[in-house]
Amino acid sequence: MIEHEALKNHWYVVAESDDIASAPRAVRLLGSDLVLWRSASGEVVAAPDRCPHREAPLSQGTVSDGCLSCPYHGWTFGDEGTCVEVPSSGPGRAVPPAAHLTTLYVAERYGLVWICPGEPSARIPEMAAETDDRYRRINSGVEVWATSATRMTDNFLDISHFPYVHVGTFGIQDEQNVPAIDLEQLDQDFFGYQYEVDVRNEAGAVASGLDAEVITRRMTTGFNLPFTVRSTIHYETGLDHLILLCSTPIDDMTSYFTFVVWRNDDGSVPGQEVITFDRAIGAEDKLMLERIGGVLPLDNRDTVSVQADKPSVEWRRRFASMIGLGS
Ligand code: FES
Ligand SMILES: [Fe+2]
Repeated sequence: MIEHEALKNHWYVVAESDDIASAPRAVRLLGSDLVLWRSASGEVVAAPDRCPHREAPLSQGTVSDGCLSCPYHGWTFGDEGTCVEVPSSGPGRAVPPAAHLTTLYVAERYGLVWICPGEPSARIPEMAAETDDRYRRINSGVEVWATSATRMTDNFLDISHFPYVHVGTFGIQDEQNVPAIDLEQLDQDFFGYQYEVDVRNEAGAVASGLDAEVITRRMTTGFNLPFTVRSTIHYETGLDHLILLCSTPIDDMTSYFTFVVWRNDDGSVPGQEVITFDRAIGAEDKLMLERIGGVLPLDNRDTVSVQADKPSVEWRRRFASMIGLGS
């Protein structure tokens, strides 16, 4: 899956902004090792984790004054990956043109570091709450899941697993029937569906601000190709809880996962406490997905789907088409 060229032209989350501070950071994206560091101008620089001199991993070097130095012979790289020093040549000597690093597109948005390894063919999905004063943003950290980004996206669009996988958090065991789903363009960036779901509230009272045992959430869930899913939860109190779920292929069978929450609450409960519930839900999904071997078949005929799977079937059809498979 990761070899498909079209995948390179999209944005992927590989870290949080706070992760890129005083040391270089190694990440892996679509099977390629990359190094990230924060340059003197404050921008994050991303480049292949390979020194052009003798291929040492630059991520094991050091960052000083925004310049990254290779651990092997000390070649040093500044803004935009420009090689600014070759110590063995002595001061003032010209640097070979091929010594400069070939950098990748980097953007910082929503407290996350996004990378596009090719030429961006689509924008990072817009979250209007980011610039709306009524909302605060809560970041969750980046995890590594031993499953494919395709299985993660399929799972995040699926509600029929709630009464099975999520009984430990919000799922209600006997609420198994999924009503008919109508798919629609939710806004410019997300395609998905609206629904109502009754959930168990006891574990999530902090998240919902309500004390009833069972509460109704009005929700929308939608995707932005290739692997971003947004869920919005609207509670009857007027509280909105928006979740952006980002899956990034490290390789076919390993992925980064992070989520970001926006809420229009009064900010009295610490952010990390609010998302404890979301973290527990994510852990339930991770546990299930890591039990499933292999990558998700991209041909819809290779697995059996029913009406409740409509959103993920549509995502899979569009994803397959995006990478040049199927219709
Ligand atoms: S391998 Fe990096 S400076 Fe020689
Ligand atoms: Fe789930």
